[in-house]
Amino acid sequence: MARVFVTRRLPGSALERLGAAHELEVWPGRLAPSPAQLLQHAHGAEGLLSTVDDRVDDTLLQSLPQLRVVANYAVGYDNIDLAAAARHGIVVSHTPDVLTDATADLTWALLLAAARQIVPAAAHAVEDWLTWEPCGFLGASVTGATLAIIGPGRIGRAVAARAEGFAMRVLLVGRERGDLEAALSEADFVSLHCPLTPATHHLINATTLALMRPSAILLNTARGAIIDQVALLAALEGGQLAGAALDVTDPEPLPPEHPLLHTPGVLITPHIGSATRAARTRMADIAVDNLLAALAGQPLLHPVPLPS
Ligand code: DGY
Repeated sequence: MARVFVTRRLPGSALERLGAAHELEVWPGRLAPSPAQLLQHAHGAEGLLSTVDDRVDDTLLQSLPQLRVVANYAVGYDNIDLAAAARHGIVVSHTPDVLTDATADLTWALLLAAARQIVPAAAHAVEDWLTWEPCGFLGASVTGATLAIIGPGRIGRAVAARAEGFAMRVLLVGRERGDLEAALSEADFVSLHCPLTPATHHLINATTLALMRPSAILLNTARGAIIDQVALLAALEGGQLAGAALDVTDPEPLPPEHPLLHTPGVLITPHIGSATRAARTRMADIAVDNLLAALAGQPLLHPVPLPS
């Protein structure tokens, strides 16, 4: 039996399977453990189940000499120092595929909500609805509009597939800078689906925002730090951009007084892209399957490639 530390309670019964095979400690808090608490509770663990809220950095990894496997409860793994994991001989897994549809659906919920001002309109219906207004809550057309998808991976392609139902023109943008610039200047909606890496950090900045149409709406269900939020605020305030719908921010959560939370035209949700019962339960199953495999000395089922 190996000791395993799990940094959050998870939906479904996957942790029962893990607990039947290994000595399990599950962090009971609603908030993530602090770095000091993570270090203390993961002490002696051979397996760690982490979430996007946990920084699995070199300091942590070098303090856990028994650690053999980190199973990240997410498809993204920018919270993990992969070079340090490789140096310490620790394998890392993630949870691809099972959250693709949930995240693509949420992207569309944000796109439609931002285009049609659903959140302010719903608040108006409760607080202030006096009459039917010909000029009230005029939104952007979605059907037939142009959608730029930055990052044509699994989730980006799933978002593109849904756009067919809205007869949209879809521009799929990979790593080519020229394609990015052309797509930003043509799109009514720009949706981010690339991983956060040194190359995509602040990819959306003052220069790239300046290419966008003043009527355009920016969507982010990937990672907050892909956007330079200072530049985004300036663009929104300067009328360079019509709106933004963000499921991810930098940091998370934003402090309550952060201007993005109070800027008209901005819709923010608390990183709920994968938050369907089915997706989050399957993510737990996958994370546990990977831990069980690695602790039994078998290859990971969903390995994250480590730098050599
Ligand atoms: C991921 O999987 O990377 C999401 O951000 C959390 O589900």
